[in-house]
Amino acid sequence: MLDKNITEIKESFYSDIKSVSSIKDVEEIRLKYFSRNGLVSQLFEDLKGVVKEEKPILGKKLNLLRNEVSSYFEEVKERISSTQSSKENQIDLTLPGNKYIVGSKHILTQTLDEIKSIFKGLGFSVANGPELESDYYNFESLNFPADHPARDMQDTFFVSKDFLLRTHTTPVQIRLMEKQAPPVRAIMPGRVYRNEAVSARSYCMFHQVDGIYVDTDVTFAELKGTLVSFAKQFYGSDLKYRFRPSFFPFTEPSAEMDITCYLCKGKGCKICKNSGWLEILGCGMVDPNVFKFVDYDSEIYTGYAFGMGIERIALLKYGITDIRIFFDNDLRFLKQF
Ligand code: DAH
Repeated sequence: MLDKNITEIKESFYSDIKSVSSIKDVEEIRLKYFSRNGLVSQLFEDLKGVVKEEKPILGKKLNLLRNEVSSYFEEVKERISSTQSSKENQIDLTLPGNKYIVGSKHILTQTLDEIKSIFKGLGFSVANGPELESDYYNFESLNFPADHPARDMQDTFFVSKDFLLRTHTTPVQIRLMEKQAPPVRAIMPGRVYRNEAVSARSYCMFHQVDGIYVDTDVTFAELKGTLVSFAKQFYGSDLKYRFRPSFFPFTEPSAEMDITCYLCKGKGCKICKNSGWLEILGCGMVDPNVFKFVDYDSEIYTGYAFGMGIERIALLKYGITDIRIFFDNDLRFLKQF
């Protein structure tokens, strides 16, 4: 009886396991044959009721059966679970890729990079100075008279009586000349601060680039040549420009450079206040009084200097009408550049 059962169960096991194709089927087989009440376990129960003489032979047969089917079962189980998991890990190469969000340089950084590269091409190096500046560097050594309106509390963020947030990058000219004997030829970019009401046209913090060239025989013609070359490279070679007399305490003579209005092309509009021109920078020949502060001999050396606002330069190039948009960090604006 038991002998017959052993044969039957063996056959039924092999026929059942043939159709196994999933982890779920494997589990069903395990329950049917190998659990505590499964068919194989049941055979061992039945062995207890067999007559003594037959026990050794049937017991051996039963052990052989169990070893055979259970090792085959393990084999199948292994195969199913490994194909199943490799199916789950399969990569669908036809799916569209993940889009990475790539950052980009801020438009002001791009503008500054461009300004730097143009001036580097003209032989200028790049120098830096502190944003927290002393009254001496920001004003006094730049020949600002003691009662000059730019020292007024309205324009300058004073930190203490003698220290302030620099209102322009021009003090870096002094710091550079203190460190270095002529010739000097450098541009000086950086942040500057003004205590002004925030509006579409002015912001309490913005960026400037100053430039200076001091050597023997430096002339105003060279200043013009350099600035025209810069402006044409930056705005395009068909650019129209003019120099207008102006005043700065640290240059003599001083001038401002205008370019034709980007909007009306010189006809006159709201942006250029009907003049057709837009101012892009201040410049001039370094005042001999400034040379005194850095121990340069103004009988031997002459120099020119210039300074421009980076926001302003960018506003004019891209036709932006509100300076505040540079600092809003609105991606809809930033992504356009
Ligand atoms: N520092 C001036 C300003 O903030 C700009 C300027 C004008 C800089 C003439 C110069 C210069 O170096 O020569 O308005």
